Amino acid sequence: MSEFAELKLDGKTYKLPIITGTEDEKAIDIRKLRAETNYITLDSGYGNSGSCQSSITFIDGDKGILRYRGYPIEQLAEKSTFTETAYLLVYGKLPTATELADFREMLTRHSLIHEDMLHFYDGYPSTAHPMAILSSMVCSLSSYYPEWLDPHDQNQVNQLVPRVLSKIRTIAAYSFKKSIGQPVIYPKNSLDYCANFLYMMFAVPSEPYEVDEEMVKTLNMLLILHADHEQNCSTSTVRMVGSSDANLFASIAAGILALWGPKHGGANQEVMEMLETIQRNDGDVKKAIEMAKDKNSGFRLMGFGHRVYKNHDPRAQVIKKACDRILAKMNRVDPLLEIAKRLEEAALKDSYFVDRKLYPNVDFYSGVIYRAMGIPTPMFTVMFALGRLPGWLAQWVEMHRDGEGRIDRPRQIYKGETVRDYTPIAQRK
Ligand code: SDX
Repeated sequence: MSEFAELKLDGKTYKLPIITGTEDEKAIDIRKLRAETNYITLDSGYGNSGSCQSSITFIDGDKGILRYRGYPIEQLAEKSTFTETAYLLVYGKLPTATELADFREMLTRHSLIHEDMLHFYDGYPSTAHPMAILSSMVCSLSSYYPEWLDPHDQNQVNQLVPRVLSKIRTIAAYSFKKSIGQPVIYPKNSLDYCANFLYMMFAVPSEPYEVDEEMVKTLNMLLILHADHEQNCSTSTVRMVGSSDANLFASIAAGILALWGPKHGGANQEVMEMLETIQRNDGDVKKAIEMAKDKNSGFRLMGFGHRVYKNHDPRAQVIKKACDRILAKMNRVDPLLEIAKRLEEAALKDSYFVDRKLYPNVDFYSGVIYRAMGIPTPMFTVMFALGRLPGWLAQWVEMHRDGEGRIDRPRQIYKGETVRDYTPIAQRK
């Protein structure tokens, strides 16, 4: 197999090195292209461009494969916990019992936010979207750690990673409590990561609250499935903002905002709203399918399609199976699950979706479970952010450790006006 690609330009031939990954992925290394040829490449949407080399997550979109640090997502979802998976993503290996205990202790010890931050919530209307609150609160956390904002000081980064992981959970739960007019519930040190989050979300001061073990197990699985996904929009945002040497909090806050978009993590909220609309239209999935196929409708089947997966999204398959199991365990029936299944079945029989290789993605079924757990729809994308945080942290750390240390600065092809002189206002038409 050739180690070079040859490019013929203006009568000259250039040799461009080929890079091969550990899963045999191939890339043409164009890092010297502009210097040698004065040409750039154009790839809007970056569908054909690699931004980095990474050892964190591997996806094979044609085969529906997803692995974190080499471990298949199906095994982690079944056998691991979110805390253990977060450790794996950030530190590159499954922790020993001692390492896991120490990591858990750090998450437990740093779950509170500065009491002054509680006043921030008073400024938001009760209708404020929790993603707006989450991003600004995470960015504001930087004000409380002014001495730990150097992205190149490994000790400072090691101090911040567990703090951000732990506090984002508290911030999310507090924003939910504020939105429903209930007092915030402080974290309980005797509870593990997911149990503590559910406790902060659903306990009330006036009576004891027992966290449901099935809900804890389910939340661990959901957060594991969302934990990383190589260079998706929000992760690329975290890397790009981090490349300017912005601090960790600012980089993560930027990732939260990118995730909010309905084409990305915001889709899980849109899916539920779409299913509720179909339910109001007598459960007529055919109408939704026809609208999604009509380019003029501006409507897309939310939770369907993916830039990388051109086969089933393995996460969606795990979540779909879990829906039936969890609803049965909770002795609940959700008509929206039945509508979702009929919608999937109808779409996967329709050549529009089959020809474009559009399958349900991670967002299509996740909302059914969040709803069954009592989490309101506006909080669904916050749940995605809680899950994705370890991935963002791992990718940000890797970028600073293994990256080339240069600020991300894409080029462009200019297609505007050529040079012209300033026109005095009296002469303008
Ligand atoms: C996530 O990148 C990641 O890894 C993301 C993520 C992660 O873990 O980080 O997996 C999480 O963001 C999942 C995706 C959630 N978004 C949605 O469910 C929103 C609905 N999906 C689409 O908007 C779309 O499929 C995207 C944004 C997910 C992918 O868009 P692409 O790769 O740019 O695909 P495209 O828009 O070029 O579509 C290709 C064709 C087009 O039709 P043609 O021009 O070829 O005729 O497929 C059509 C699109 O119109 N199409 C859809 C569709 N998705 C694509 N048509 C109807 N419904 C859809 N959902």
